[in-house]
Amino acid sequence: MGKERKVILSGNRPTGRLHIGHLFGVLGNWAQLQSEYDTYFEVADWHALTTRYQDTASMKKDIEDMVIDWLSAGISPEKSVIFVQSHIKEHAELHILFSMLVSLSRLLRNPTLKEYVAEKQTLKLKTEKKTLNKIAENITQKVFSEGEKREEVLKGKIKEHVLSELQGIFSQDTEIPYGEIVNYGFLGYPVLQAADILIYRAHVVPIGKDQLPHLELTREIARRFNFLYGEVFPIPEPVLNEFAKVPGTDGRKMSKSYNNTILIGEDTKDLKKKIMSAYTDPKKIKKNDPGHPDTCPIFHYHMIFNKENSDMIKEECIKGIRGCVQCKKEVFEKIDAFMEPYREKRYELEEKRELIWDIIKEGDKKAREKTKETMELVREKMKIDY
Ligand code: TRP
Repeated sequence: MGKERKVILSGNRPTGRLHIGHLFGVLGNWAQLQSEYDTYFEVADWHALTTRYQDTASMKKDIEDMVIDWLSAGISPEKSVIFVQSHIKEHAELHILFSMLVSLSRLLRNPTLKEYVAEKQTLKLKTEKKTLNKIAENITQKVFSEGEKREEVLKGKIKEHVLSELQGIFSQDTEIPYGEIVNYGFLGYPVLQAADILIYRAHVVPIGKDQLPHLELTREIARRFNFLYGEVFPIPEPVLNEFAKVPGTDGRKMSKSYNNTILIGEDTKDLKKKIMSAYTDPKKIKKNDPGHPDTCPIFHYHMIFNKENSDMIKEECIKGIRGCVQCKKEVFEKIDAFMEPYREKRYELEEKRELIWDIIKEGDKKAREKTKETMELVREKMKIDY
């Protein structure tokens, strides 16, 4: 018998259709690694629920859309196990056992949690300022509609007083305590992720850089378990992709929340709209103005989709003999052609969404086998196999 292949596990929260940032990021890595490893790819729906537990109506469709993108990016159900987290209850069992091995303060140090809280806090502050402003405005209006003499100075003063009054009333609310923003499930997010990874006794986890803190906690939990109860888990290693980042159409990081994505298999019409309205160098107004390709997302797209011409384009842009409209049109043509096979695959699969669930059913079966085996070992080592 040959040596057993090493195991890979990775996953994504189902957020619907994926973009080319995913394609050139983690998906490219997944597709490549399939032939060398036993690969498990997880639809992390429980993880998605930690933040969107009130908004579940489209979860099923979001799962289908994400898996369609996985398949069109070359993840093969013959080579890989594609499964849904919530179908494999063993993840929940291991999660609860692991939850004993992590301190509360360790979880509170999780940078993802800190970012989430900071973001929620500023959002809350912003809306509060706005709402208070509106209330103050309304009160002021009322005062004047009651037949008061219209004097701008007076008006401003009243508004100021009312606002400061209201701010006084609501000031306790502006600093929302941690405990009210973060639910118990979200606090345990990285513990669940550790269970996802370790239940397959994975050796390698191909992820984006943002996930490194979660992997670090996974490694700590694995070591702690092995130390307390005996060797069960390999200490998993991350694999980061070495591709250059794909900027969004506004030049920032490509992200659904920035509304600057190009979808995998994007429609020709939508693609054209997105490219033609993309951000370009604001200092290049006329065609003859010299451009700054290094900070232009369109030039980045040329480097990816039109590599053979990118040196020439860079030179022409800098020299001011190339206009942005022409530049966009050319790169649109390239991306449009690149998208064609992805579109075809998507059209084909969208017609038979039940096929996605057949694939998942098969994957679930294989995932379950592996996780049952691990859980038996875990219970035995922990001496709770009664
Ligand atoms: N937290 C990951 C993300 O947001 C998704 C995920 C869940 C995952 N479980 C995992 C990634 C296990 C790698 C391994 O992208």
